[in-house]
Amino acid sequence: MSKPIYILHGPNLNMLGSREPEIYGHDTLEDINDRLTDRAEQSNRSIECFQSNHEGEMVSLIQQAGSKATGIVINAGAYTHTSLAIADAISAIDIPVVEVHMSNVYQREEFRHYSYISPVAIGVICGFGAQSYELALDVLLQASTSG
Ligand code: DQA
Repeated sequence: MSKPIYILHGPNLNMLGSREPEIYGHDTLEDINDRLTDRAEQSNRSIECFQSNHEGEMVSLIQQAGSKATGIVINAGAYTHTSLAIADAISAIDIPVVEVHMSNVYQREEFRHYSYISPVAIGVICGFGAQSYELALDVLLQASTSG
């Protein structure tokens, strides 16, 4: 069985659908994960989706992905702008990580302009709503082998 790609959703993303829909749209996290699952299956690949509101749990999931996954799509939510621990976890593993944001963080408050994750990610996709995740997954479906 080939290794999956991990989809990691950070804090407050479990609230998608009802959370600030004018910014994040109306799709729920389940809607997004379902579409990503279908997309991976079309490429004969699989994904595993996780959501956590806890920084340490995200660190543990990233460490786990290092041996169990071929890549990570991560939307670290607000931890993007604060978490050296998540950046260090990504630096410690040897698989590609794509950073995702649904909103265009550069059109928003200045405190959202800095990302601890961007320097350790292979790339960043932001501003395309739920489609940001699909674009990021496409990159990993093309880039990563099934290990
Ligand atoms: C976000 C942007 C972050 O600034 C914010 O804290 C989030 C969501 C996005 O997907 O646009 O929780 O990562």
